[in-house]
Amino acid sequence: GTIRRVDYTPPPFLIETVDLDVVLSPEAANVVSRLAVRRNAGAASKPADLVLDGKKMDLVSVRLDGRPVDHQVTPETLTIRGVPDSFTLEIATRSRPQDNTELTGLYKSRELFCTQCEAEGFRRITYFLDRPDVMARYTTRIVADKSLTPVLLSNGNLIDSGPLDGGRHFATWEDPFPKPSYLFALVAGSLDCLEDRFTTRSGREVALRIYVRPGDVPRCEHAMESLKKSMKWDEDVYGLEYDLDTFMIVAIDDFNMGAMENKGLNVFNSKLVLANPETATDLDYHSIEAVIGHEYFHNWTGNRVTCRDWFQLSLKEGLTVLRDQQFSADMGSAADARIDDVRRLRAAQFPEDAGPMAHPVRPDSYIEINNFYTATVYQKGAEVVRMMHTLLGPDRFRKGMDLYFQRHDGQAVTCDDFASAMEDSSGVDLAQFRLWYAQAGTPDLKVEGSYDAAARRYTMTVAQSLRPTPGQPDKKPMHIPLSVGLLDGAGRDLPLKLAGEATAGGTTRVLDVRNPRDVFVFEDVPEKPVASLLRGFSAPVKLEAPRSQEELTFLMAHDSDPFARWEAGQQLGARLILDLVEARKAGKPMVVSDLFVDAIRRTLDDQRLDRSFIADAVTLPGLAFLGELMPSIDIEGLWAAQQRVRSVLSDQLADRWSSVYDAAHGSGPYRFTPEEVGRRRLRSTALAYLSTDKGEAARRRAVEYFEKAGNMTEQVAGLAVLAELGSAEGEAALASFWERWKGEPLVLDKWFGIQARTPTAGTLERVERLVEHPSYDRKNPNRVYSLVGAFASGNPVQFHAAGGRGYRFLADQVLATDKLNPQIAARLLSPLGSWRRYDGERQTLMKRELTRIVQEKGLSRDVYEIASKSLS
Ligand code: ARG
Ligand code: ZN
Repeated sequence: GTIRRVDYTPPPFLIETVDLDVVLSPEAANVVSRLAVRRNAGAASKPADLVLDGKKMDLVSVRLDGRPVDHQVTPETLTIRGVPDSFTLEIATRSRPQDNTELTGLYKSRELFCTQCEAEGFRRITYFLDRPDVMARYTTRIVADKSLTPVLLSNGNLIDSGPLDGGRHFATWEDPFPKPSYLFALVAGSLDCLEDRFTTRSGREVALRIYVRPGDVPRCEHAMESLKKSMKWDEDVYGLEYDLDTFMIVAIDDFNMGAMENKGLNVFNSKLVLANPETATDLDYHSIEAVIGHEYFHNWTGNRVTCRDWFQLSLKEGLTVLRDQQFSADMGSAADARIDDVRRLRAAQFPEDAGPMAHPVRPDSYIEINNFYTATVYQKGAEVVRMMHTLLGPDRFRKGMDLYFQRHDGQAVTCDDFASAMEDSSGVDLAQFRLWYAQAGTPDLKVEGSYDAAARRYTMTVAQSLRPTPGQPDKKPMHIPLSVGLLDGAGRDLPLKLAGEATAGGTTRVLDVRNPRDVFVFEDVPEKPVASLLRGFSAPVKLEAPRSQEELTFLMAHDSDPFARWEAGQQLGARLILDLVEARKAGKPMVVSDLFVDAIRRTLDDQRLDRSFIADAVTLPGLAFLGELMPSIDIEGLWAAQQRVRSVLSDQLADRWSSVYDAAHGSGPYRFTPEEVGRRRLRSTALAYLSTDKGEAARRRAVEYFEKAGNMTEQVAGLAVLAELGSAEGEAALASFWERWKGEPLVLDKWFGIQARTPTAGTLERVERLVEHPSYDRKNPNRVYSLVGAFASGNPVQFHAAGGRGYRFLADQVLATDKLNPQIAARLLSPLGSWRRYDGERQTLMKRELTRIVQEKGLSRDVYEIASKSLS
């Protein structure tokens, strides 16, 4: 059934302490749980019975205060009849981790026992009040065979360990901090570890340990460096220190998501831990740093202060994503980092906000909570917190964070509590702003400007609107921080003075847009300015402003705000591509304006720009973003137009691409620094432009690049270009890559991914063959995402190819995966949900597959929710 936010009630019982005894063997996991339970004085009702959550395990016994007790078991509950106000419950259960293919609860990844409890996995380990507002202190004793399972880990501090009879041993862990069950973790198996230390600023000595499969320790250094940087950064920027004596990370090969912030024992997908230059790309290095930071930062924003209920998920995720974004910006180039954030938001979140699953940052209802770990809750949630940061300014924002921790440390709270802390500490009124938590959809912002030379006055008119989304037909106007600047004819920032102000204050101002239509008047403006709008992407909106190509080109060359500067180029490119789509439809030639080519040329020639910014600026807007700008997505048209622009740029700037390519030649060992990453990015980008004509010279160059690559970053860049070129060279490169890397699962994922993303014809047939490949493994989430996910979400051209075979393929894969791992199946499914955004024929074909899925017997709740909501 549907769970609703408004139905929240405090738990009728609380659990003070949990004593777990976990005995692991190859056949089963036997768990004995001793719970100290008492009635919650703050609860509205006083029920006679205690109802615990639990599923997919066998109840062995249950005793209340040492005696048998009247109880009843259903597939998802255990009810204890007639309980007193305070008592001890002892529950014995048994489960089979080796058969758990859902990878939630206690399961096995190869020979390793591990857990994933967020959101509702703990109930698969033992019966419990499995909700985040029940916070308990945990003691966990693990018993297992010593030779098969030498390492036994859980949350907190190790308080006891030793040998037992029969070749077994045990370890007891105690976590002094009360925590919700979703933060529980247990890992047991054969693991090596990289160890280091960190001294907190108040002098606590923390042992840092990263556990990996034997042999992988040399690939942990970057993760360890990232962890130490994260710990230091959180002290420096937020004054937040680590609070236990050990911090552990375990890398797991079979993991549904990226990573998990379990108290003191983070569990990670191995692709977000393991790195060396031979096997990991710059993007991997970057993601590892960001996600290690993210999970570490959760220790305060998530663990010390947690969520009252799952509707508040963005309380911890939005805030923690913002914190990891700030961390990334501080570790590398801030401009790049912001461009990255926005690209990701537009590619993943904007389509979600425009589709059938559109939901507020704080959802109102769900069928399966796992379906709400979304780009909206995470990325848009981060934008919402960032807007508060913008409205308050850094100092008042920090004071707000301090107040938040002062008020709520040790509590399970709501998004409203967070906004209140910000409001109370700063005096900034956030009443209207809170609508960002409640209203789904991406606001449209129309901005127009006019200059009155006689009055030296510039008037900016801002109109906002928000389209209906499922369940929200009528929307209220939002409070939108709009950051703007005005440029003079030489491209310099003008000082800004709003009507009514005595003096000018700064060259970038944040306008408070609050009404359907707002007017802002700037005074003492000496000449007709060019407006720089939405600087830093100050709000997650779609901006529409009638600006000429000349104005955009001007901003592209001069805007002092790097985001706005990049954005001007993207707008210019987007407009050009959309015009070409129209031309193509009308049977007219697709003409690329010289203005655009010149602008790209000037960017390439601008000596003041760093290479990563240039690479960003000469990369054309992506198909997902462009599609969102069209009333109905014409994917073939978009692809043809984008290719046309690419080939014109390739032709007309051939000399530039060559010289950029040559100049960005590297030397020396691999280093992960902003300069080196930028250099490699720009060089790969130039290579791709140089390869658009698919000629002999291009093929030779790409082969050389691929073969001489000194690191995985260049190797995959070369391979992707060769795969797109097709031809014998492409096949040979794929074959040699396979031969070289068949023993490295994380690298093989890249091999599958590149093939699945190749936008040329024949890809679907190849992908269909690859699901039969001996190395394809439907039980491994990374492998499934790298092939099926990459094809459906990362290759719109071939996924949406006429005829609907891509849709049928995806539906088949979803149904097959659902039997093993519903969470993964539901995630794969989402591209079909956007059917309304396509033409009539594709709509029919996509709906047909969704219908076939909904009608399947024994469908999981996860897939059912996405498929049925997509159709309704
Ligand atoms: N809290 C984790 C994070 O850092 C995500 C875990 C989600 N897992 C799940 N099965 N829904 O973002
Ligand atoms: Zn998170």
